[in-house]
Amino acid sequence: MTERLAPDAVGRAAALLRDGHLVAFPTETVYGLGADARNGRAVAAVFEAKGRPHFNPLICHLPTADAAFEEVFADDRARALAARFWPGPLTLVLPRRPSCRVDLLAGAGLDTLAVRVPAHPLALALLEAVGTPVAAPSANRSGGVSPTTAEHVLDGLDGRLAAVLDGGPCAVGVESSVLDLTGAAPVLLRPGGADTAVIEAVVGPVGRPIPVAAGRASETLRSPGMMLSHYAPSLPVRLDAVTVCADEALLAFGPPLSGAGVVWNLSEAGDCTEAASRLFSGLRWLDAEGARRGLRGIAAMPVPVTGLGEAINDRLARAAAPRDGAGSAA
Ligand code: TXA
Ligand code: MG
Repeated sequence: MTERLAPDAVGRAAALLRDGHLVAFPTETVYGLGADARNGRAVAAVFEAKGRPHFNPLICHLPTADAAFEEVFADDRARALAARFWPGPLTLVLPRRPSCRVDLLAGAGLDTLAVRVPAHPLALALLEAVGTPVAAPSANRSGGVSPTTAEHVLDGLDGRLAAVLDGGPCAVGVESSVLDLTGAAPVLLRPGGADTAVIEAVVGPVGRPIPVAAGRASETLRSPGMMLSHYAPSLPVRLDAVTVCADEALLAFGPPLSGAGVVWNLSEAGDCTEAASRLFSGLRWLDAEGARRGLRGIAAMPVPVTGLGEAINDRLARAAAPRDGAGSAA
């Protein structure tokens, strides 16, 4: 059963989030399905609750621009846009800082992170009270319509989250605009609540429109997260390993195979939600550790294709695919 919280229960909502539970909350655009972004297990539970087939990266919500720019590097364009739009319906994709506290899964393993400061008093009060970045996709089942009332959230997700903070209907009703600032020129990944002409006036060359990414405006957005190269460790990956050699690193699932040079266990208990939360950090760690010890590759044990196992298998297949550039995007 999902608790329905009145606006004065912000403290309870914050406590639930800090304890690793999922809490939906209102923003000016749509309701978000929030999780403590530092907590990989909670972030994995977001993908699970939504039934999101891929680890499409999540937006991290913060109460102020200063708080956001502690997690990502902000250039002059980002600062100018933040000054103009935040709090408000603009999301900025920026490079993660090395000190970024956000779990890798929330950013789908990318070196970039989407951040925004929502313009809703309850959202801001919640974010202040939680004190950590909150990862939140729209609070609907994957493929469904974004929710603009607490009722909508419960219609799709009742029982899959701890609570929904009821702030009444959302004022904007469409999701935030997503602007990628990681390249030399800004790219609009998703038009949304922020006026594109105003974005252009702040950052674009006068009179020149900002390019809009192909395949925009949906969760099937061809984001960098869908590209093979972002998931490929430098060591080759061998799938469905049933044996392992001493000169291999092992990505284990369940009871580990014996004999590996170094082991990262996705989930000793064989739990796909836990495994998802440990996938990207595990691949990075095995890659670094394997290279340091001169190992020749990473052997990955089979992961069942149930729940988040589907997304895990998708990412592992990308990581193991030939590196000649073929199939480098999905
Ligand atoms: O208004 C909104 O943005 C709402 C409220 C809750 O804040 N959130 C929302 O999240 O719409 P979601 O997950 O439904 O959409 C986030 C979009 C996705 O299309 C995702 O691919 C993109 O942002 N995105 C997130 N992080 C990214 C990154 N690092 N690089 C590129 N795209 C990213
Ligand atoms: Mg969505």
